[in-house]
Amino acid sequence: MTKKRFGVLTSGGDCPGLNAVLRGLVHTASNLDYEVVGFHDGFEGLLNGGNYEILSPERTAGILPLGGTILGTTNKGHFIAKVDGGTKTTIPAPVLAEARQTLQKLGIESLVVIGGDGSLTTALQLFEAGIPTIGIPKTIDNDLEATAMTFGFDSAVACVADALDRLHTTASSHKRVMVIEVMGRHAGWIALYGGLAGGGDVILIPEIPFSFEKVAEAVRRRDATGKYSTLIVVAEGATPVNGSEFVLAKGTGEYKLGGVGDAVARETARLTGKEVRTCVLGHLQRGGAPTTLDRILGTRFGVKAAELVAQGMFGQMVSYQNYEVRPVPIADAVHKLRLVPPNGQVVDTARAVGISFGD
Ligand code: F6P
Repeated sequence: MTKKRFGVLTSGGDCPGLNAVLRGLVHTASNLDYEVVGFHDGFEGLLNGGNYEILSPERTAGILPLGGTILGTTNKGHFIAKVDGGTKTTIPAPVLAEARQTLQKLGIESLVVIGGDGSLTTALQLFEAGIPTIGIPKTIDNDLEATAMTFGFDSAVACVADALDRLHTTASSHKRVMVIEVMGRHAGWIALYGGLAGGGDVILIPEIPFSFEKVAEAVRRRDATGKYSTLIVVAEGATPVNGSEFVLAKGTGEYKLGGVGDAVARETARLTGKEVRTCVLGHLQRGGAPTTLDRILGTRFGVKAAELVAQGMFGQMVSYQNYEVRPVPIADAVHKLRLVPPNGQVVDTARAVGISFGD
């Protein structure tokens, strides 16, 4: 008898922990007597008759500590559901029809989508178009509603903290200000957690508009107490009061942010007269091996998603809540971004240890 099959794909920006998810998913599927078809390069793998491979437990052996995704991914292509700044857009009907045809041809009954906000918005459209779909939340940005954490975030934070440790020694040797621009798109989680873990002195996040003068004030305050170096962590989506996000490039999907770090460096140098350098951490935050936390969370998500397929719980996403992995409707995860609460406990904690938010 032929085995039941479900498909899986990784979509959007890659992040550490994707392979841990695939390994957990494939092992559980095999135990439940399913065959897993892995589509290459995100949703694009569903087109042109399908670009795919069979994922067996043997194929996923040894990939737990590997960064990236063995399936490949893209945050571009025919299935874009969110554009510039998060505006929703509809996937063309012929594209959906072609995807459905591929699944039918391969005898695939359902699809597991591992993705962030944009990719899960696509997954929801697939589900609403009649394709049984399960979601797994992935993003270093940690900005998805309905889950307390996404895998990939902890690895990105670890990268920021490591970078700050390194920048600290060079900044203090030269009595300089170092500005480090980090990812996170419209959310400040990476900057906030990375800044806290790495001993940042100023943290600028999209949720708390900053003033260049207040940032300079924080630098002067430190100088006055004999602390002649300052580390400023800037989220790529941080905005000055009455200003807007710094957009680097516009493409077919979400626009690319960047440049705020240089602006903060320029203004801080002008207002304080100090030597300032900028470091844009960029894709280092997305690469490399996942942390232990991301390996474990990824494995738990993968295992649970395969169980949900077997239980027919379509339209659901696995989520992490109160130490448990549970299903929640995909719709609940993508209706709005989960942002840092400006008056929340973590921001208060940061302020308590003397961190300035430039406000
Ligand atoms: O969403 C993940 C993310 O890494 C964001 O933090 C960042 O803005 C964006 O993707 C970068 O995308 P790209 O890989 O297209 O440069």
